[in-house]
Amino acid sequence: MTFDEARAQFPVLERYAYLNAGTFGPMSHAVAGAIAAEQQRALEEGRINRAVFLRYLEDRPRVRERFAQLLGVPVESIALTTSTSEGCNVVLNGLDLGPGDEVVTTDSEHFGLIGPLAVSPATVRVARIRDLPAADANETILAEVGPRTKLIALSEVLWVTGHRLPWRELRDATGVPVLVDGAQSAGAIPVDASEADFYTVSAQKWLCGPDLTGALSVRDPDSLRLAQPSYLSQREYDLAEATFEPHEGADRFDTHFTPLSVTAGLLAAFDLHPEWRFERAAEASARCRALLAERAEVVTEPGHANLVAFRAADPEATVVRLAENGVIVRALPGTGLVRASCGWWTSDEDLDRLVAALG
Ligand SMILES: Cc1ncc(COP(=O)(O)O)c(C=O)c1O
Repeated sequence: MTFDEARAQFPVLERYAYLNAGTFGPMSHAVAGAIAAEQQRALEEGRINRAVFLRYLEDRPRVRERFAQLLGVPVESIALTTSTSEGCNVVLNGLDLGPGDEVVTTDSEHFGLIGPLAVSPATVRVARIRDLPAADANETILAEVGPRTKLIALSEVLWVTGHRLPWRELRDATGVPVLVDGAQSAGAIPVDASEADFYTVSAQKWLCGPDLTGALSVRDPDSLRLAQPSYLSQREYDLAEATFEPHEGADRFDTHFTPLSVTAGLLAAFDLHPEWRFERAAEASARCRALLAERAEVVTEPGHANLVAFRAADPEATVVRLAENGVIVRALPGTGLVRASCGWWTSDEDLDRLVAALG
């Protein structure tokens, strides 16, 4: 697939410099078409029948397989979820942490992780890394780990600064299980989740999938209690006894019946990505950072991932002004920062438009 062919999948790029995949990836013809075709079929043939149900039962494992390949884990480790945040909730609920336990996190996490941590009975210890050089994160997080630490919960790529965190090194150094928020890594940079105890991702961002799609990798499904069974959790159940046998793998943590149309859209999304996606996204991110650094204070250090955050006197006003000039970025509330997301589809012209609009 050439660069031009890859871009042509996303009609929005004909009009806008769409630099907001950290929120939602651009919508493609293929994904929108697969969703629409399934909805049309439901209209004409009825929402469900035996043949459609059997097809669904085949498609669901295909989606699971694609997530497993993406994350470099066995398919038995994958649960299908609606979002990164839901994956965090599945883990925090299932770990049964108590008041004497501690969880270590950072001051730069998304609410999708912070919310589940905040309602857990464990004490949350927050490593203050936001204003430090990225290289100091490891030591600063380690300093919060103690004998009561039951979990280290943090992002692979921070949504505010775009910096990568050394979760593997932290796990190796402490032996403490890690919950990795992969919302800004899956599909953006190469991911190997095989050493993570828990790794949770979204598909609506860098994978350009439909809304409300994601997965959770659980390395050892027996290490986590199934706190909220869905219909899909059981292998068999006994109505008379009101009991059930869960699936053996992490599919016991599947949270819902993904809609048929969304399943079709997800399968289409996994086929969008060219081989060269990570190299191209890294190039675009580096160029974006360099161009912005000539005009603004860029807080993202070089060589991390695909988010580039820069300071603006009035971030909301900057976002509005850029949108008027055909450039879509977002403000990060409470930080004074604007964030540009660079994907494998981002062209040099998109970035030139960004800096021209900044003035
Ligand atoms: C680092 C991070 N974690 C979690 C989330 C929430 O993702 P989801 O809506 O899939 O739960 C986001 C979304 O922006 C994010 O950037």
